[in-house]
Amino acid sequence: MNYESVTSKSDIDQLLGKKSQYGDFEYSYGNETISLLKNNFDLPDSLYLLVKDGEKFAGFVSCDRDWWEDNCFFLREIFVDETYQGQGIGRELMARCVDHAQKRNALILVTQTAFENIPMQKLCESFGFQKWDNPRWQEGITYKLFLK
Ligand SMILES: CC(C)(COP(=O)(O)OP(=O)(O)OC[C@H]1O[C@@H](n2cnc3c(N)ncnc32)[C@H](O)[C@@H]1OP(=O)(O)O)[C@@H](O)C(=O)NCCC(=O)NCCS
Repeated sequence: MNYESVTSKSDIDQLLGKKSQYGDFEYSYGNETISLLKNNFDLPDSLYLLVKDGEKFAGFVSCDRDWWEDNCFFLREIFVDETYQGQGIGRELMARCVDHAQKRNALILVTQTAFENIPMQKLCESFGFQKWDNPRWQEGITYKLFLK
């Protein structure tokens, strides 16, 4: 498996239409998310990684500084193609975001997920993320990992 930095915005289009199902819960990529990802790609210190199995898409992660509190990175997207789930790729992508934020002296890595998204919740909690009562978003769970 190869972990590659995204070098051009057009690489982000690979995500369009990708889906993952967990019970009744579906996670998918539409145009709105793709354009937000393209906008944030240009922010200083953004991390965008693709996971490739040869030429095949296997996963993606992004984190950026577009969060309203100081010294935070926001893990905006993490996605592993269903064919490749359960093999440690999500854990590796998360670890790379933690490392990226730590090396830039961030205090907190924050992420948000749906109440139904058990795989993401388990992944976050296994890294030590704690649930945080987010005054700006109550439609799911906000997690914070305190880095210092
Ligand atoms: C969440 C996601 C990225 C995990 O990726 P993955 O490569 O399958 O995860 P890993 O194999 O690295 O597993 C790491 C940990 O995640 C959790 N996990 C992963 N799949 C799980 C599942 N089906 N049920 C419960 N926990 C799960 C476990 O804690 C696991 O650790 P363990 O193997 O020691 O139990 C993947 O399920 C995914 O892409 N889902 C769709 C997109 C999505 O929901 N992204 C998050 C949006 S907020």
